[in-house]
Amino acid sequence: MKKIIILTGAGVSAESGISTFRDADGLWEGHDVMSVASPQGWDKDQELVLDFYNQRRRQLKEVSPNVAHFALKKLEDKYEVVVITQNVDNLHEQAGSSHIIHLHGELNKVRSTGVPSLVYDWTDDLNTGDLCEQGYQLRPHIVWFGESVPMLEVAIQQCESGDVFIIIGTSMQVYPAAGLIAYAPKGSKIYYVDPNPNISGELVRLSGLEVIKDKATTGVPAIVEKLLK
Ligand code: APR
Repeated sequence: MKKIIILTGAGVSAESGISTFRDADGLWEGHDVMSVASPQGWDKDQELVLDFYNQRRRQLKEVSPNVAHFALKKLEDKYEVVVITQNVDNLHEQAGSSHIIHLHGELNKVRSTGVPSLVYDWTDDLNTGDLCEQGYQLRPHIVWFGESVPMLEVAIQQCESGDVFIIIGTSMQVYPAAGLIAYAPKGSKIYYVDPNPNISGELVRLSGLEVIKDKATTGVPAIVEKLLK
């Protein structure tokens, strides 16, 4: 069975109603990134960080996967599919994808600030005073700027054994995620679906790249249909 590696960013969830980060009206336009998504921000103003992710967690209850998420699940009829996502939402899970690697963490999980291996499912607001079983404050289970990416090695291994790659809705600006495509075996077919693709860095060097300048909800089902034929 051939293996398809899917690399998704905020754009795959945009048409479900979740803002991207760097588009006009993107999340980072209204927020100072380092205040809400860095260890320094957490140390400086824990309430602000908790509130930012509480809003994201609340929004997640109101959105649903779109046809792009569902089309990716459908690929499993014929291929081994690994979804490597930078997104912290759970829309790939809701659409039924079986193998998902969250590079930047998950909104619906929290972890202990004292014992990082203590991770809990968490779907409601997280507040100051919410503690792990050993008495430490809980924090969002999100990879913040300046923090290491624990799932990176697993993601690299998957990329090294991929046959076909589909990059969807990412500005390819945030490393190490954007560098993963460099691990695609030479000559692999690589699709990149994005209405405003950023062809730079690793992508420039890839011979098998086909850019589809389109939104996820139209571009992704079209590729999936082609691959399932
Ligand atoms: N369909 C597909 N792609 C879209 C759509 C759409 N409907 N709408 C927007 N996009 C594309 C944009 O053109 C852009 O290239 O989605 C991309 C979004 O880019 P970013 O906002 O930079 O999001 P992403 O690449 O996922 O960001 C990476 O940055 O701040 C961090 O941790 C955060 O995981 C995130 C990381």
